[in-house]
Amino acid sequence: PKLNSKLFKAFKCEIIKICRCKLTYVAAGLEGVSGRAALRELSVSNSESFWAAVARHRLCWSTPFHTVQDCDLSRGKIKWFEGGKLNVSVNCLDRHVHTCPERVALIWERDERGSEMKYTYGELLEMTCRLGNLLRRHGVKRGDCVTIYMPTCPLAVASMLACARIGAAHNVVFAGFSADALAERIRDAQSSTVITVNQGVRGGKVTELKKTVDTAMQSCPTVKQVFVAMRTDNPVTMTARDIAMEEEMLKEDVVCEPAVMNSEDVLFLLYTSGSTGKPKGLVHTQAGYLLYAALTHRYVFSYHDGDVFGCVADIGWITGHSYVVYGPLANGATTVLFESTPIYPDPGRYWDMVERLKINQFYGAPTAIRLLLKYGDQWVNKYDRSTLKTLGSVGEPINTEAWEWYHRVVGDGRCPVVDTWWQTETGGICIAPRPSDPDAEIVPGMAMRPFFGINPVLMDTEGEVLTSNNTSGALCMAQPWPGMARTIHNNHQRFIDTYFQPYPGYFFTGDGAYRSEEGYYQITGRLDDVINVSGHRIGTAEIEDVVNQCPAVAESAVVGYTHSIKGQGVYAFVVLKKGIDVQEADLSRQLNGMVSEKIAKYASPDFIQFAKRLPKTRSGKIMRRVLRKVVESDLEGLGDLSTLDDPAAVQEIIQGHEKLL
Ligand code: WT7
Repeated sequence: PKLNSKLFKAFKCEIIKICRCKLTYVAAGLEGVSGRAALRELSVSNSESFWAAVARHRLCWSTPFHTVQDCDLSRGKIKWFEGGKLNVSVNCLDRHVHTCPERVALIWERDERGSEMKYTYGELLEMTCRLGNLLRRHGVKRGDCVTIYMPTCPLAVASMLACARIGAAHNVVFAGFSADALAERIRDAQSSTVITVNQGVRGGKVTELKKTVDTAMQSCPTVKQVFVAMRTDNPVTMTARDIAMEEEMLKEDVVCEPAVMNSEDVLFLLYTSGSTGKPKGLVHTQAGYLLYAALTHRYVFSYHDGDVFGCVADIGWITGHSYVVYGPLANGATTVLFESTPIYPDPGRYWDMVERLKINQFYGAPTAIRLLLKYGDQWVNKYDRSTLKTLGSVGEPINTEAWEWYHRVVGDGRCPVVDTWWQTETGGICIAPRPSDPDAEIVPGMAMRPFFGINPVLMDTEGEVLTSNNTSGALCMAQPWPGMARTIHNNHQRFIDTYFQPYPGYFFTGDGAYRSEEGYYQITGRLDDVINVSGHRIGTAEIEDVVNQCPAVAESAVVGYTHSIKGQGVYAFVVLKKGIDVQEADLSRQLNGMVSEKIAKYASPDFIQFAKRLPKTRSGKIMRRVLRKVVESDLEGLGDLSTLDDPAAVQEIIQGHEKLL
């Protein structure tokens, strides 16, 4: 506590010096502090004082922390707020219930248009407590990991918070993933409990989620119990291990003692794709993650008390975790749970929802904006969007045309569009136009400015920091921040190798970026073999693994190509084994089916090109660079082919590609 007060004092002094504002501004958090750009400087140059003050003010602690940070990026060691104890669900629920129990926490925008349901903070707390008690009664303990395979709905949010309440980690698996992908994640996370729903409903279609869980269970012998909630009225087959969730919840007490958690205890695992190997379970912990989600939610979107925040992401992705659930709820916001699609029942769905729910901040993905743009302005203009204040974009680069349309048509030219760059690994937004100054200039299609406490650098190919502007390089972070992932579940070495080995002392994002003359950042795309299909991240190696399992296939190479709506599409080159005689169309269908079944539909190739051989170096490495250029029809950009084993292979590939188009 002694150290804390010293730091706090230092922080106050800095703020007063820089902002010439009253002490009360500090006590009130960051609102009202003028000269936020100066405060950003301070958040980097004196990050400990900054985060200490913010953590003390923004979170509700049962024991204060004694050490602000203990990090060593060269070893992948990241610890924040040690000594501190708190409970995330208390921070997201109880403290708001004390001040305003009737405030709406969730608006569930169900797939059926106009059938939304509202849940107050009081109601959400009750659901969470009943569920927390139910899990406890069924033996779920602090430190266990519960897998949640549900669509975006109130019981899914309550499940996440119930885990947080009793100190279990959650592992949400996107409900679009196949049984195999689900099973793989359950096994890796060593979950013995799964929560699901009987069926999902999206875009008017029913998906058999419980059946998918049943299939996954065949290869998950350690799962002891599956809680099944009812999204539809259709009964499903229940086995001895299945538990009717709502029925059992009703029997539980509405009070659930929150576990007292250490700052660095695990809050959740979330699997994401890398350039090689199996998906990795990134680990986020309690205090730092929550603080970072809450602070970014408030400042990037200019969220104010009483606003209705509409992030249309699925809870199965990090965007759903940070900006549907944790950030908004930590700030006491009303958050929207969007269960449907942008074009169901028609392309006016988002804007009809904005009007009906009076949404103030709308946060979505470029892929959906590009799709809606094609349907025309009338679908937007039909609806009153006057409540909108900020428009956000996330997950992939937003092209200028989509940005302009979002700004001019959706926002009537009066709402700032914030293009937010971040990753599953970063926990929350790191680069965005308005982390600080709400009047700052915005350049279309640029993520622009680092958030408080974020210190981005660009690296050249030699691993040297590029100090000048108007330059491009590998995007790294020179300083730790509270929201960053702590490790990869069960594989800390992979964590170090992936993020901290490439540029020792720095966190490597895997993305390239350009820094303009003015010092603004623009993300240029992945530097590795990860692609982004409709904002969904997938490693090309994962798709190749599936394709290669087909007995007829000798080898394959998957690359991304520019797709006008999805951002990137999947293009697979396939070489068949000698002597295989099949119809290419049949085999294509089979391979597509395999990828959907083993991973998810979105990963299924848009194009499959059968080739006699792939271009390789003399040492036998597939030259993906060449394949990427071929699928982009950028033959001028093929570059140096002198290391190629057999240059004729490239000509064959080019001809095959032209035939396919
Ligand atoms: C990758 C992270 C951020 C949450 C959703 C995706 C790409 C993300 C942007 C943006 C250009 C972006 C990057 C990043 N990306 N946001 N605003 N502009 N690219 O999280 O699944 O972990 O994917 O998405 O390539 O590395 P994710």
